Amino acid sequence: MQPPNGLLKPSSKVAVLTGAGVSAESGIPTFRGNGGYWREHRFEDLATPEGFARDPKFVWTWYEERRRGISRARPNAGHVALAEMEKRVAAFTLITQNVDGLHDLAGSKNVIKLHGDIWTVRCLKCGRERIERSELNELPPYCACGGMLRPGVVWFGEILPEGAMERATAAVRAADVLIVAGTSAQVYPAAGLIPMARTVIEINPEATGFSDDVAYSLRGTSAEILPRLVP
Ligand code: APR
Repeated sequence: MQPPNGLLKPSSKVAVLTGAGVSAESGIPTFRGNGGYWREHRFEDLATPEGFARDPKFVWTWYEERRRGISRARPNAGHVALAEMEKRVAAFTLITQNVDGLHDLAGSKNVIKLHGDIWTVRCLKCGRERIERSELNELPPYCACGGMLRPGVVWFGEILPEGAMERATAAVRAADVLIVAGTSAQVYPAAGLIPMARTVIEINPEATGFSDDVAYSLRGTSAEILPRLVP
């Protein structure tokens, strides 16, 4: 099923929700798909504050591996199409669950990062957060104040960045169309944005729990389909 041509027009108000699938074609594993991180590892050990407290070096070793992998990745045609779409519609908000920063690299501007950013670090002692893109050789890394640093991402059981969900909700409610690309839509509160939207276009090679409820559920990859939606 294809959305009718011209569903997205220059006058359209568009919101987009992306997940790990959008970066799959840039060589970054997803979480729950084949070869996904949570197929190989226990998320309790790597993506919870308790797991970090138990073994910060183990957790940092995994994040540093991911950082180095992401640093070699480039935005794909899906990321690029969204950056282009932003310039061609009346209103555009990109809400991402991804922490890889590839939307930024592709040139997207109005981005809400629901789950933080793998290129930021935060001190557990003084609370300062900063961008850290260089390779981390000492793991765990420490802050100048002597406190241990943690990755600037949102772990299971943690609250989202301040105001992020409020801004995302407002953008989805104001939009004519919500594009949902590359997410299994299993993690909340992000997935809770989908039923709030007027018209949803879902892009995923596989069906999700929302596929039967959305206006258009397109089977294919985001790098293939997103460029076709740019007005
Ligand atoms: N194009 C579009 N979709 C794809 C592609 C692709 N090339 N490849 C895979 N997908 C789809 C998969 O079918 C799957 O439905 O992307 C989805 C990825 O789902 P998950 O691995 O569950 O990732 P995501 O939905 O982003 O996870 C949400 O969970 O683990 C936490 O914090 C983490 O942000 C993450 C959150």
